[in-house]
Amino acid sequence: HSHEESILECLYSQNYNTTISQVTFTPTNSSYDSILQFSIKNSRFNTSASPKPVLIITPDSIPQIQTTIICSKKQKFQIRIRSGGHDYEGLSYTSPDQNSSFLILDLIRFRNISIDLAQQTAWIQPAVTTGELYYRIAEKSSTLAFPSGICPTVGLGGQISGGGWGTLLRKYGLAADNVLDTRVIDAEGRILDRASMGEDLFWAIRGGGGNTFGIVIAWKIKLVPVPASVTACTVTRTLEQNATEIVHRWQYVVDKLSNDVFFMVVLNRVVNPIQANATTIQASFNSLYLGSIEGLIPMMEAKFPDLGLRRENCVEMSWAKSILYFAGFPLNSPLESLLDRTISATGSAKFKGKSDYVKEPIPISGLEGIWEKLKEVGVQTGGLILASYGGKMSEIAESSIPFPHRAGNIYQVEEVAFWVEDGVEAADGYLNWLRGLYEYMTPYVSKNPREAYANYRDLDFGRNGDGGGGGGGKGDYRRARSWGSRYYKNNFDRLVRVKTAVDPANFFRNEQSIPPLSSWR
Ligand code: FDA
Repeated sequence: HSHEESILECLYSQNYNTTISQVTFTPTNSSYDSILQFSIKNSRFNTSASPKPVLIITPDSIPQIQTTIICSKKQKFQIRIRSGGHDYEGLSYTSPDQNSSFLILDLIRFRNISIDLAQQTAWIQPAVTTGELYYRIAEKSSTLAFPSGICPTVGLGGQISGGGWGTLLRKYGLAADNVLDTRVIDAEGRILDRASMGEDLFWAIRGGGGNTFGIVIAWKIKLVPVPASVTACTVTRTLEQNATEIVHRWQYVVDKLSNDVFFMVVLNRVVNPIQANATTIQASFNSLYLGSIEGLIPMMEAKFPDLGLRRENCVEMSWAKSILYFAGFPLNSPLESLLDRTISATGSAKFKGKSDYVKEPIPISGLEGIWEKLKEVGVQTGGLILASYGGKMSEIAESSIPFPHRAGNIYQVEEVAFWVEDGVEAADGYLNWLRGLYEYMTPYVSKNPREAYANYRDLDFGRNGDGGGGGGGKGDYRRARSWGSRYYKNNFDRLVRVKTAVDPANFFRNEQSIPPLSSWR
């Protein structure tokens, strides 16, 4: 018996569940490749060299998930849980450790949304995307929303497991801050809800990382009020149009504005609009205001006159439409675009992202150094995305949920590189550039620890051994601290305690999951 045959035998022999064979795919199955690739959202891990799962299971019932857990444990398979497939390092569908046999538990069929308008809550299954959720809320109410991410194809299974920030974060915090209840299947195959799992586990799963504490099969979320019409604006400025001074000034106002204003600034290299053969650096200021153009313009004239915001930079629209606006869709795109899981901000590109938190404004000279870095890469192949903090984010305690990046942050930074070229050499070029930019940012961002966003997973911080490690030893704990303290700060130890209590054998694991610590048992 091969390892693969043994697990198939186990899966198919569970006679209370006769249908699992219909949702199990091995590499010899003609649908295997298309199912594997459908939710790969980073082409960097979609090459012939990328380690592939021995099996993909796409369960459509809870007993099939429980069977998968039981048989994977028995046959010592790692499972990779996949909802939307946007993991930055591809850990929901590949394992950089070539030696481990893993299977994908792809939750793509768990996509129900049930909205309770009277209570202003919803139950959602994990493979629901943010776009699908926003669309279904908008169908029922023009004045309700949910404070999750901007890119409409991201799965809520993974996103809420790491936090989930979007244009409503200054008003309502993160997606994970707005979870009321959940259904999780633990390593023993038990179905738990908030009452039966207890507050420690309920705390941990709201941001402590996916594929670690159990399989989330549903979230109960709190919907939040928004005006029927909101205002979205874009102002672009190049270096020749004073971008440096305006970005510099932006840092002094953005976290102190009314909670109804959110700002995102995208910095990258573009073709110079006034000199066709040359390039320049552009800052694109995208803002969302939970109110009318009339309300916004005088506020910006008073608080941030340097931006020079004018009516013609702004459009009023529904909140759901503003997601398409922020995600870069053309203005006349139908709202149904939110339902399309196949389009993606990343297209067929390969990418890597890194993240930072800024607590003191970066001086002009520091910004000028960033421009120099951006000039080292091609037009729109690398950039920084700044997202304003403050407001509600500063009111929530660092220990409220595992996500700790709260008061004291002016904005969050994502440094990112995109490329389409194949091959290791091209990849190394972009990765080295990105690491150089990150190195350059060191004096200007958070220190001790240098904080990072768990949902922008970055294996440069280190990884568990053996595709997940975790014999429960001190070495595993110490190694995991190197990324755990960045993602979770002082919440890391509590996450280890919860992990030790609920999954001491470390069944749910990946290269950056929280390990158990046997001496804490
Ligand atoms: P995926 O299925 O890859 O899961 C991610 C991780 O969670 C994996 O470790 C996986 O095993 C685990 N997991 C998935 N489902 C689980 C479940 N049901 N139970 C337990 N564990 C589970 N973030 C943000 O906050 N705001 C934003 O605007 C964006 N925008 C954005 C755009 C693009 C193009 C990308 C690629 C990513 C983002 N993100 C983001 C980051 C995103 O929130 C992060 O990658 C999420 O983990 C992705 O969740 P998925 O379910 O899509 O991924």
